[in-house]
Amino acid sequence: MKAVRFHEVGGPEVLRYEDVDVPTPGAGEVRVRVAASAFNAADNGMRGGFLPIPVVLPHVPGYDVSGTVDALGEDAAGGLQVGDAVIGFLPMERDSGAAEYVIAPAEALVPAPTTVPLADAAGLPSVALTAWQALFDDGRLTAGQRVLVNGAGGVVGKYAVALAKRAGVHVVATASPRSRAAVEAAGADEVVDHTTTDLLGAVDGQVDVLVNLAPIDPDRFAALVALVRDGGKVVSTTAFMATPGDDARGVTAATVFVLPDRERLTQLASLVDSGELQVEVTRRIPLTELPALHAEAAAGRIAGKVIVQP
Ligand SMILES: NC(=O)c1ccc[n+]([C@@H]2O[C@H](COP(=O)([O-])OP(=O)(O)OC[C@H]3O[C@@H](n4cnc5c(N)ncnc54)[C@H](OP(=O)(O)O)[C@@H]3O)[C@@H](O)[C@H]2O)c1
Repeated sequence: MKAVRFHEVGGPEVLRYEDVDVPTPGAGEVRVRVAASAFNAADNGMRGGFLPIPVVLPHVPGYDVSGTVDALGEDAAGGLQVGDAVIGFLPMERDSGAAEYVIAPAEALVPAPTTVPLADAAGLPSVALTAWQALFDDGRLTAGQRVLVNGAGGVVGKYAVALAKRAGVHVVATASPRSRAAVEAAGADEVVDHTTTDLLGAVDGQVDVLVNLAPIDPDRFAALVALVRDGGKVVSTTAFMATPGDDARGVTAATVFVLPDRERLTQLASLVDSGELQVEVTRRIPLTELPALHAEAAAGRIAGKVIVQP
């Protein structure tokens, strides 16, 4: 089969589009014929060696996948059958979805949503789980509370706005003119344009939880803690900088490191099918172009969600 792998960490040039043996599923594993993998910033970090995930080299990147179950290993649990359409957030250290076939632990896979193209469904798993974990596992948000989502214009942000809104949370969100309409469509109650407006003066009253998803200056981040009520929470996915809190006011700080969660991912896929979550896809590229996509990511931010199809 064809796969993209890196044999050493380094710049985008370490990625090779090459022939690899079709893998065989072991006990508890499933082979998936890949419809697509989705590109994440962490793929760039793992290839570049600045994200400390212990991969075995050579490594196939692309841990968010969608596809069709192609073969079952012994004792592959989870009620999966050959031919099932599935999605998964695969263990990041394992060979992943930038290939024609991938071996996945059965417990990492859930039924794909049926209302979006199977390839596009690869855009859902780790980003939607990140939004969920930020809001409800770390943020502990409940109905009637208020959240400020800073960076709602991004991929995680729109899932966060939609998930918070359907949970009965009042959502204040930031968005540039580029993303304002999409953030409103996701359900934000108030939208602040961070390119023209100082958030500190624009939020009416305090919030229970501040979720930061944006690459802001650490001093600026610390200043935003003033928008959180005493005893509230600051949650951030931008793990490259510390998350500030305020001990004197009982404002706690948490940094999200997204974890696989089969039950939650099943629920998120259902929310796509019920129309409560929109899967964002900004671009679809063939697998042969994955090295060029990494080069783009290494040179700057990739906007939106890119789907990579073998
Ligand atoms: N820790 C984890 O487990 C984990 C998991 C997934 C993602 N992440 C990280 O979480 C972050 C968000 O992910 P993502 O995929 O949603 O990234 P993204 O698509 O790049 O979204 C970030 C958004 O922030 C907005 N933004 C930029 N500058 C801003 C500013 N100064 N103030 C307010 N908003 C600003 C931009 O939207 P507009 O300019 O249109 O408003 C941008 O779309 C990334 O850093 C990602 O690497 C972490």
